Amino acid sequence: MTENNFIPKPYTNPIEKGAFTWSSPSNIALVKYWGKKKDQIPENPSISFTLNNCKTTTTLSFSKKADKEAFSFEVYLDGEKKESFKSKIETFFNRVEVYLPFLKAYHFKIETSNTFPHSSGIASSASGMSALALCLMSVEKALMGANDASSAVEYSQYETYFIQKASFLARLGSGSACRSLEGDLVVWGQHESIEGSSDLFGVKFPHQVHEAFKNYHDTILLVDKGEKVVSSTVGHNLMHGHPFAQERFKQADKNLKTITEILKSGDLDAFIALVESEALTLHAMMMTSMPYFILMKPNTLEIINKIWAFRAETGSKVCFTLDAGANVHVLYPEHEAETVKTFIETELADFCQNKQFIHDAVGIGACQLINNN
Ligand code: PMV
Repeated sequence: MTENNFIPKPYTNPIEKGAFTWSSPSNIALVKYWGKKKDQIPENPSISFTLNNCKTTTTLSFSKKADKEAFSFEVYLDGEKKESFKSKIETFFNRVEVYLPFLKAYHFKIETSNTFPHSSGIASSASGMSALALCLMSVEKALMGANDASSAVEYSQYETYFIQKASFLARLGSGSACRSLEGDLVVWGQHESIEGSSDLFGVKFPHQVHEAFKNYHDTILLVDKGEKVVSSTVGHNLMHGHPFAQERFKQADKNLKTITEILKSGDLDAFIALVESEALTLHAMMMTSMPYFILMKPNTLEIINKIWAFRAETGSKVCFTLDAGANVHVLYPEHEAETVKTFIETELADFCQNKQFIHDAVGIGACQLINNN
């Protein structure tokens, strides 16, 4: 599979206008992606749980325009025009135009909303970019027409192609977005223990997952809701020439093999050790880059220490992971849901901004919503 597989044949079903809506979730990485090559190719493979409640819903309306000279689009967040989102989308359109040659033929209206507060510090790029990529794939599917879809690729394989190309496009918008389309676990990046894995798009974890990981919970503690001090683009770039980069990429590769076994065996102690180490290693990379930076806040550390103390006292299998920010993702198995939620409410909420947290759990991925117009 190469990039060229995603360049479509000429479209045969001209359409004037239409609208598609997709809802797509966020995801939380267990083995982290941090460092990339040209064109959003990851330096190492990563794996994530797809979330259920934290998601973006996007409606893409399109109508044919007279010229095909430039991109034409408007973006709305919760009904309000967002000029500030335009440059990111313009960059995305430029990157994907070769794979979606209809982009300059239409005017697009992009209307998006998130289930989580915009300023929560929860990255909306994964859910947002995957939802947009899926809407664009729906436009392409309509332009291809059913017959063409079946001749371009075997019809039975078209659904797979649709998801793979949507993931491929989402990756070009924001790397980790390619892991949001399906559930419950998605791997992105070529790896020997994951059949079909690719640097170009995410694939569903292909092995049987142990019962212990079914309906796993993730409560996101909103420690710092401010804008990120360092964007992930800047962070990824700081891995170029980073003194520990090559060792880190090797470690992630090894961790993906290890977690594959853990997910099959249900060894929760091994899971905790690997996931927490991955989170702290991600932040260690930030702290040891040049320039260096710290995204954790004092309350991030307070929470980590509380989780460790709770685990030592009760034998709970609760653990934490971190994104590129100060918020803490608290992970725990279904059978501990009640006790861990009580622990969060009584002991961790005080360390969150305005005591805010979001209960989430592992989900099944994106879904298309029916348009009424
Ligand atoms: O998708 P990006 O470029 O915003 O990078 C996200 C990187 C982490 O969230 C820190 C890790 C990951 O694998 O999701």
